[in-house]
Amino acid sequence: MARVRCLLAFLSLLLLVISLPATTGRVLVASGDAAVESRRYAVIFDAGSTGSRVHVYCFDDGLELVHIGSDIELFVKVKPGLSAYADDPQAAANSLLPLLEKAVDVIPEELRTKTPIRVGATAGLRSLGTDKSNQILQAVRDLLQEKSSLELVDDWVTVLSGYQEGSYLWVAINYLLGHLGNKYSESIGVVDLGGGSVQMAYAISEKAAANAPNVPSGEETYVKELFLRGAKYYLYVHSYLNYGLLAARAQILKVATNSYSYCILGGYNGVYDYGGELYNASSSPSGSSFTKCRNEVIKALKIDEPCKYSNCTFGGVWNGGGGAGQNTLYCASYFFDRPSDVGFVDPAATSAIAKPSDFMEAAKHACKVTMNTVENKYPNVRKNDLPYVCMDLVYQYTLLVNGFGLKPRQNITLVRQVQYGDSDFFGEAAWPLGSAIEAVTSQKINLKQF
Ligand SMILES: *[C@@H]1O[C@H](CO)[C@@H](O)[C@H](O)[C@H]1NC(C)=O
Ligand SMILES: *[C@@H]1O[C@H](CO)[C@@H](O)[C@H](O)[C@H]1NC(C)=O
Ligand SMILES: *[C@@H]1O[C@H](CO)[C@@H](O)[C@H](O)[C@H]1NC(C)=O
Repeated sequence: MARVRCLLAFLSLLLLVISLPATTGRVLVASGDAAVESRRYAVIFDAGSTGSRVHVYCFDDGLELVHIGSDIELFVKVKPGLSAYADDPQAAANSLLPLLEKAVDVIPEELRTKTPIRVGATAGLRSLGTDKSNQILQAVRDLLQEKSSLELVDDWVTVLSGYQEGSYLWVAINYLLGHLGNKYSESIGVVDLGGGSVQMAYAISEKAAANAPNVPSGEETYVKELFLRGAKYYLYVHSYLNYGLLAARAQILKVATNSYSYCILGGYNGVYDYGGELYNASSSPSGSSFTKCRNEVIKALKIDEPCKYSNCTFGGVWNGGGGAGQNTLYCASYFFDRPSDVGFVDPAATSAIAKPSDFMEAAKHACKVTMNTVENKYPNVRKNDLPYVCMDLVYQYTLLVNGFGLKPRQNITLVRQVQYGDSDFFGEAAWPLGSAIEAVTSQKINLKQF
């Protein structure tokens, strides 16, 4: 009997010790409501080329978004971006301070130390080269460490790979649509056409994942395992560097065999600057041509590159095998922006159903325009983009149909924002929400393991 009592005493002591760290938070919020303590906040900085933005999300214990103020997130931005301070890492870091202060303000004090903070830098910082961008990232880490009590891990302040951008976007959109936790076959695939790279991400079956080809060491594997809302996903992700919309212009100008390109609008004679490299951008004597431009684009895409696998997209890249997770495709970033600039999608809409052939029709019109009339025809296209309206639309059509193998008449969703369930709120079709979800769910998994 004494032995049992002793064991019980030992066990309760053990329980007390184990539960101590958890109880600390509980005591602090005892005055508030119980739901608040189970909330998880995440702070995500999106350090883009034109500016820095911060997103703060709050999730309840069912991983549903909880309002912050009157919206489903706190969002604040500043200009310019980190890369504008290339030679002054401290000034770069300091530019985030006003954002940090606003972010910390909305997080209840007792939850701050367990709120993950992440900084994802994209194209702008990448273009500064490794040394300068590392110095800036280190200054940012030091600043966040010093000025906030949020949970920071060195790896969380980083230049995002296209691969990460693609998988976070897949998580974000499927989350907003309410698909996470369901069978993989109910999820939707995403295509993200940025300036520098384009990403394709969609879930595949476990069987297909087991047959995924190996990649040379040092490269990202084609398939990544994700565990979200109780479901395991095998996510095929590939990022095509240099095939984002702006980078592709350079690729196309490089393969044009003459000193001119049939993709450039008639009457234009200029230079295209991409990443500090200059490319001749001159129109042919007869102006632009849809058919001849398409030949240049097909060449730039390396459609005919040898394929070592059962099926490739372009450039010898495995296509993932297709399947149910790719039947519905959401196409984001320039796939929304360019159509809304040229007017085949309402710029005020949050998303639109379209078909690849809509890009073809729009391209056929754009390729008949010359520099004399282009400004009247496309008042919403920015001046610097005007000579490239034919090229951009031909590229988008060719990338979808010849590159990714879509049917010209299949429905795709061009997307800027996604409605959050049946609420009145819309979330951005962008990577930060996906990164936040990964941050808070991996935190939970750690807690459970403990
Ligand atoms: C670029 O264009 C100029 C004149 O338009 C020409 O002299 C030059 O050879 C071209 N450069 C290349 C690499 O085609
Ligand atoms: C390759 O993929 C394309 C597009 O997804 C499809 O039409 C074709 O049937 C596939 N071929 C093979 C051999 O799987
Ligand atoms: C494609 O979208 C249109 C317009 O929203 C819709 O009417 C049509 O049923 C869709 N087609 C398919 C095959 O889903």
